[in-house]
Amino acid sequence: MSVPKERLDAFLADLRAAFPEGLDLTTELDTLAPYGRDESDLGEFPPQALVRATSTAQVSRILALATKHHIPVTPVGARSGKSGGSLPIEGGLALSLEKMNRILEVNADDLLMVVQPGVFTAQVDEAAEKLGLFYPPDPNSAAYCTMGGNVAENAGGPRALKYGVTRDYVIGLEWVLPTGEVLRVGRRTGKGVAGYDLVALFVGSEGTLGIATEITVKLIPRPRVVKTALIPFKTVADAAKALSSVLTSGLWPRTLELLDEVALQAIAGRGLPVPPEAGAVVIAEMDGNHEAGVLSELAMLVDQCASWASLEAVVAQDESQRERIWAVRKEVSPALRALTGKKISEDIVVPRSKVPEAIERFKAAGKREGLTVATYGHAGDGNLHSNVLYRTREDWPRVEAVLAEMMAVTVELGGTITGEHGVGLAKKRFLPLEQPEPLRELQRRLKVVLDPSVTMNPGKIWE
Ligand code: LAC
Ligand code: ZN
Repeated sequence: MSVPKERLDAFLADLRAAFPEGLDLTTELDTLAPYGRDESDLGEFPPQALVRATSTAQVSRILALATKHHIPVTPVGARSGKSGGSLPIEGGLALSLEKMNRILEVNADDLLMVVQPGVFTAQVDEAAEKLGLFYPPDPNSAAYCTMGGNVAENAGGPRALKYGVTRDYVIGLEWVLPTGEVLRVGRRTGKGVAGYDLVALFVGSEGTLGIATEITVKLIPRPRVVKTALIPFKTVADAAKALSSVLTSGLWPRTLELLDEVALQAIAGRGLPVPPEAGAVVIAEMDGNHEAGVLSELAMLVDQCASWASLEAVVAQDESQRERIWAVRKEVSPALRALTGKKISEDIVVPRSKVPEAIERFKAAGKREGLTVATYGHAGDGNLHSNVLYRTREDWPRVEAVLAEMMAVTVELGGTITGEHGVGLAKKRFLPLEQPEPLRELQRRLKVVLDPSVTMNPGKIWE
């Protein structure tokens, strides 16, 4: 889909006239091509024009003109999203925030930081660390994903188990509505309940309600000690049952990641110390300020798993071993894709007690269609990255059948179709399984209030 040439040209002419001082605007195909791709494996949808904005004032004027000319606008950051949220599927304008990449304020006294949307997530935590503070959210891609994208998708990650997700840290936003109005919402204080919580609404709105041009996040004290254990199990079913028991045993690890036998096969030979008989592994991490205390809590967790038939655990002895474990964990997604060439990665969440059943039923659904389903992810949260592996486009009807069953099982078990990647393009056809029409209709009406010409990231979330 694309915007008719005449309408686009009128918009571009107005845009150029509105910025006599110059604007980083291009319609050059080679430059546009990468802005049509992301990490969702959903295909290529290049925009018809691209602006790389450098200020809030620019974003505001551009959105006002796009609204006036009915031009679809897709906000774009680092293009590392997994649900197709930044794919300009209706053409029009890609509005990139990558050049708005400054940390504006680091305030240790008030435990907050103010950043522009193009700042990489890892930079936020690095700046916090210098002051003994912590910005916990890391969707496992902190080095190359941006804060704007994390806000758009309400990104999670392994540490969400103990520390929560992006929405738990964003306390204020400078927000440009699709009409071009600039709002300041939220607060700079530890608490605040005035009015509706628009920050909570905008975080996770997947680029459909406007654009964050300034993001205020809270910081927390940084735990001084972190210890990591690798706990293997013979089967993924054993591991899943053990995980359910850990949190009720009174322990609060910061991560409980699970890798099944296919994920282990995908990363074989990359230095994860796992015995050959292991069919699953759990990465458990404890933190605190007292080394002996943290180690003893980790030992309690390992013991808890032993009562659920774990094999011998390995505790990382130093920071480099810890880093190696996480480096390999971060390679799981591309390594799985490399097994068969193509894959679709889901991010469903089920109630924690249903994790063993969900994993088993997803694998069975794959088997029925002759496809492998690999599961890894944030099992401590009940948040599973179940991946359907396939080889060619001809496999697609079978992939689709497996996905449909996975989503139906998830909802049947009381879960949600997306825990961290967003609905975007990837899951909009499944949203009706989880949310009835009156609920979807209410949200669509809300969207029209904020985006009267419905130009912001069209074709996402809603069918
Ligand atoms: C992860 C991404 C895919 O956890 O969410 O690796
Ligand atoms: Zn994840």
